[in-house]
Amino acid sequence: MERRSFFKICAKGTLLVAISPFLIEGYLKADDGRLFKSFNRVKLLDCYGNPLKEEILQEEVTYVFNYPYASTPCFLIKLSEPAAKEIKLRDEEGSEYIWKGGVGKDKKVVAYSAICPHQLAHPNPNESFLGYIPKEKKSMAYKEGGVIVCASHLSAFDPKTGAKVLAGPAKEPMASIILDVDEEGVFWASAVLGPAKFFDYFKSFKPELKEFYKNIRKAKKLVSLGAVVKPLDVYSKEVVIY
Ligand code: FES
Repeated sequence: MERRSFFKICAKGTLLVAISPFLIEGYLKADDGRLFKSFNRVKLLDCYGNPLKEEILQEEVTYVFNYPYASTPCFLIKLSEPAAKEIKLRDEEGSEYIWKGGVGKDKKVVAYSAICPHQLAHPNPNESFLGYIPKEKKSMAYKEGGVIVCASHLSAFDPKTGAKVLAGPAKEPMASIILDVDEEGVFWASAVLGPAKFFDYFKSFKPELKEFYKNIRKAKKLVSLGAVVKPLDVYSKEVVIY
């Protein structure tokens, strides 16, 4: 089956997967403890519950999985070139942190919390105003492609450099999701680095989260049993990016 259609028929839901403990201390540095937080180490899965390996990812397609909470979306993107390394970034208050770079073969795979640091736009099951613009395309937010764009107020972020702000009203990078690849080539998520907006998001979108998850507690549940990765246009019925 062709890979794109394989992902297209993804059904919603997660499958049981064993969790391995993983110590991340010392792997990344942030000069402010608030900018780095470990969560459950969670295996990424395709829509059949198979461990997600790099071969299945198409370059420059925006994929989404929920992490570290059941309702918090993240982007997974395999770039068309290796990501940069050791990028120094700052949150809105000036605290610095170091983004180490991409993972996988050629270090092209990156992941970010898909909650816009400006006013928290994010993909939901109905629509998304956020997504990656391939290199050869352009958007209203930025002069070049190869960027993540939030069409709500036209912020653009550079996925090659830790989602640094390139344009628009956002004042800080998107938070990054720390990934690693095990000896079998399977992707895992284990932490969040940068200015995550999870608690503002839970507060601001309570009615929406109740609608989609029935119960706010379910929306705030930490993911622990595997995170299913879907293309953005499967995750959200409508994708609006310009
Ligand atoms: S919410 Fe993303 S640019 Fe305003």
